[in-house]
Amino acid sequence: MKTQVCIIGGGPAGLLLSQLLHGKDIDNIVLEKHTRDYVLARIRAGVLERGFAKLMHEAGCGDRLDREGEVHEGVSIAHDKGLTRIDLFKGSGGSTVIVYGQTEVTRDLYEAREKMGGVVIHEAADVALHDLKSDAPYVTYVKDGKAERVDCEFVVGADGFHGISRKSIPADVLREYERVYPFGWLGVLSETKPVSHELIYSGNERGFALCSLRSQVLSRYYIQVPLEDKVDDWSDEAFWEELKRRLPPDVGVRMQTGPSIEKSIAPLRSYIAEPMQYGRLFLAGDAAHIFPPTGAKGLNSAASDVHYLYHGLVDHYRKGDDKGLESYSQKALARVWKAQRFSWSMTMMLHRFPAYTPYERKLQKTELEYLISSERAQQAFAENYVGLPY
Ligand code: APR
Ligand code: PHB
Repeated sequence: MKTQVCIIGGGPAGLLLSQLLHGKDIDNIVLEKHTRDYVLARIRAGVLERGFAKLMHEAGCGDRLDREGEVHEGVSIAHDKGLTRIDLFKGSGGSTVIVYGQTEVTRDLYEAREKMGGVVIHEAADVALHDLKSDAPYVTYVKDGKAERVDCEFVVGADGFHGISRKSIPADVLREYERVYPFGWLGVLSETKPVSHELIYSGNERGFALCSLRSQVLSRYYIQVPLEDKVDDWSDEAFWEELKRRLPPDVGVRMQTGPSIEKSIAPLRSYIAEPMQYGRLFLAGDAAHIFPPTGAKGLNSAASDVHYLYHGLVDHYRKGDDKGLESYSQKALARVWKAQRFSWSMTMMLHRFPAYTPYERKLQKTELEYLISSERAQQAFAENYVGLPY
């Protein structure tokens, strides 16, 4: 097979780029390791920045997002004195976020790819990248036991943190920056009315908690748990009880509880790989960086990568201008690092760190106290939360 751009990974980053390129008549193929059902079974954060929504529209798949996504103009921070609402709209100078599940984003992208007749090859095994430093790279894989080959002009590694693309960059070229946190998030999805129509992030003495939602009848809640904890250690009752204890009493009493329809534990990690380009290979999304979920920057940062890469490829094919591709890694990383800084600072401010000295704990509380008492600090929070410009 021959194509212009071979995209590895059919997650949101790969599918969005594929859809956008197809819209500009740039031929591409997506190779995905798993089945479509497997990809759609993953539950992840559900807060979208405006830049992401704009890209979805540009890709021709923003209609359901407009209809069903909830526009949020604020979030609340819970602390030991109660609840402080941060006005995202005012603080950011008129922007908002949209609450819409990542699973729905992926579903919309798959449907759009199908409608346009895009090529997405599922269950592509043993994907390997070759001759990335040449002008004629190629990708091999196995499908239904048969060896296949795709000749292309560019390869995009959008195959997530565990994919093969990043690993195809020689170790002496790749620099990795990482922080692993000493706890995880236990998340529960339940068909109950959300306790609040806006998100509540709680920095509590007992640990972090988050009240989020997918709709007015579907709630998503999280609590910080030790890394050693297993899902089976947490009955639904124990989860609800602990969640309520980490929220102001008046919020806790309003909480509607019910059976969990999904329950899982995810570790927290901050990670960035540099550079995001090696020869004709460009990394995008989780393949190059991981965010702790505090602040919901994972998917949104994948989208900003896609934005830079899309424009770089369009300029290459339409105008013969390679400046965008040459500066891709530097531009994408500049924004990714700012989003990392924000999700790191939110994570550090709101979680309990068992090994903290009394001094560090005091400083951490002061950080939170500063945020809830300073309008300027809230503006900076709002500017970052809604997403910095591309
Ligand atoms: N070959 C082909 N496909 C692969 C391979 C491989 N060797 N390894 C992984 N994949 C596929 C995965 O099955 C997955 O569907 O690549 C896809 C990567 O998708 P995601 O992990 O969702 O990553 P990305 O598209 O970058 O999405 C960014 O935002 O909210 C965050 O972490 C969240 O998924 C997230 C993301
Ligand atoms: C979610 O709804 O799953 C969610 C929302 C905000 C976050 C993380 C997760 O910061």
